[in-house]
Amino acid sequence: MKLAVTGKGGVGKTTVSALLAHAFKSAGHSVVAIDCDPDSNLLACMGYPHPENVKPLVELHALIEEKMGVKPGTTGGMFRLNPFVEDIPDRYAVEIDGIRVLVAGAVKKGGAGCYCPENSLIRALISHLLVDEKSDLVLDMEAGVEHLSRGTIRTVDALLIVVEPGLRSVETAIRVRDLAIDLGLKRVIALGNKIQNEYDVGFIRKAMQDIELVGFLPFDVHIREAEIAGRPVASASEQMRKAIHDVVTAIEAKTAKLS
Ligand SMILES: Nc1ncnc2c1ncn2[C@@H]1O[C@H](COP(=O)(O)OP(=O)(O)OP(=O)(O)O)[C@@H](O)[C@H]1O
Ligand SMILES: [Mg+2]
Repeated sequence: MKLAVTGKGGVGKTTVSALLAHAFKSAGHSVVAIDCDPDSNLLACMGYPHPENVKPLVELHALIEEKMGVKPGTTGGMFRLNPFVEDIPDRYAVEIDGIRVLVAGAVKKGGAGCYCPENSLIRALISHLLVDEKSDLVLDMEAGVEHLSRGTIRTVDALLIVVEPGLRSVETAIRVRDLAIDLGLKRVIALGNKIQNEYDVGFIRKAMQDIELVGFLPFDVHIREAEIAGRPVASASEQMRKAIHDVVTAIEAKTAKLS
């Protein structure tokens, strides 16, 4: 399963990414998770003790030069279009509960920056992991829609839009969906998060129009507490573990049905 987790800022993308990575691992799969948000916090969410000590890939200058054949920041120059990236997870991932976690880092946006060697290396790595059948892939994306237009995640099995009860998160979800369809993504699915009651469920069902919902996660104070205490969200509560298990089952059913 190859998933990109997206949605409005603060809806729970990173929390959901961590929960999904653990659920796939518990099902016996090999899992790679990549923090693709420049404002990275996936490691912290997974309970990694000193996330600030992990240098993002785009800041590993020797690696960029080794793989791309040019120094980081080079623009307009010639660098490798198909760098060898298969060894990067083994060499640079942090292992948390058997899940390999990579931090992409802040990639320059727009204009010439998009074609710098750092961006190209991250794109090549994600493209490789998207076709690598040996492991599941969970991509914790940055908020909003802008990253989608770069096309890196076009071949995910599903784009998972996290939505919380509230108009703004729904508006972003609809924009993400529209852009994803324009870009030719195969499957767009949505997950309701921070659900407090039946009213929230009804609101999201109605607001998401024709976007397929794969379930709902409760608002759970243990998630907040785990986050604040630096403990892994995946072991924060039994109700959340069960809820994410049901979500994984629904995602598998939907993606199998559509393939
Ligand atoms: N189901 C939940 N129950 C309670 N709190 C939650 C739940 N999901 C997420 N949170 C809390 O909401 C906040 C935002 O979550 P998270 O960082 O996962 O969102 P995000 O979409 O990744 O944010 P950003 O856009 O900043 O990357 C965090 O404090 C997190 O602990
Ligand atoms: Mg996040």
